[in-house]
Amino acid sequence: MQVLHYKKELRDILSSKDGKNHTIGFVPTMGALHKGHLSLVNRALNENDIVVVSIFINPTQFDNKEDLEKYPANLEEDMVLLKTISNDILIFAPSAKEIYDEKIDSKEFDFNGLEKVMEGEFRAGHFNGVATIVELLLLTVNPTRAYFGEKDFQQLQIIKKLVELKGFPFKIIGCPIEREANGLARSSRNERLSLSTREKGGFIYKTLKTAKLKFGTESANSIEEWVVSEFARNAVFTLEYFQIADINTLTPILKKQKNVKYRAFIAVYAEGIRLIDNIAL
Ligand code: PAJ
Repeated sequence: MQVLHYKKELRDILSSKDGKNHTIGFVPTMGALHKGHLSLVNRALNENDIVVVSIFINPTQFDNKEDLEKYPANLEEDMVLLKTISNDILIFAPSAKEIYDEKIDSKEFDFNGLEKVMEGEFRAGHFNGVATIVELLLLTVNPTRAYFGEKDFQQLQIIKKLVELKGFPFKIIGCPIEREANGLARSSRNERLSLSTREKGGFIYKTLKTAKLKFGTESANSIEEWVVSEFARNAVFTLEYFQIADINTLTPILKKQKNVKYRAFIAVYAEGIRLIDNIAL
């Protein structure tokens, strides 16, 4: 296990292994690691010779100052967790200065509308921040494969689009959502929930699973109305959006089409903390 804080250090180590036809697997994270992150790292370990995990709380993707300030950070704990699965991981943990120098700012991207809906609509500038940091990290690590969770399905699609638009040779791999025992999607933000709310978190996934069942027979409109009414009756979770969308364009469903695949996407608040989840329909 090696922890590197500078791009140059990391590049030097990786290039010392160049020319030996090594494959590099890369897992970008913001730390506060949990079993969801570890599932990505495990997959990267299985499929590559070298694995790099980046840990960087990227300021430019936070649209909410308090969310950034309260984002859990503990490099020591993250290292302990990573060590439980392998001693052979390169951790890249740069400072904001190393990444952005003096100017903490994001670039502007156009992802053909993917960035405008759902998370893009409710979190202004979020995907410009995500794409800025992921592009920089990909170009620093130069991985054979990079791993992203379907937990952030819109992010995954945007990164695939980024790589396609830029013509990068990296393979972007989507990994399934890891859940807590009650079905709540694992997230670093779950740590900030009270125990009682976390225990009730299964409600979000239960609603998604019922929506999936209903999708066989009911219209998207009626499912959306049902979800809104379920949340209106729930005192713990407040619905921000529920949206059934085409998995490729992420545009909201109008009329169900046979050759299109759909997912249901949800964002909710509990105790001021924002949680997202989604399910394949
Ligand atoms: P972070 O939220 O730390 O997530 C890092 C990666 O882990 C993302 O690809 C995310 O989708 C995946 N992940 C998180 N929870 C998961 C779960 N329950 N099951 C499966 N995968 C899960 O996403 C980010 O960081 C940042 O936006 C980042 C890409 C690092 C750019 O800053």
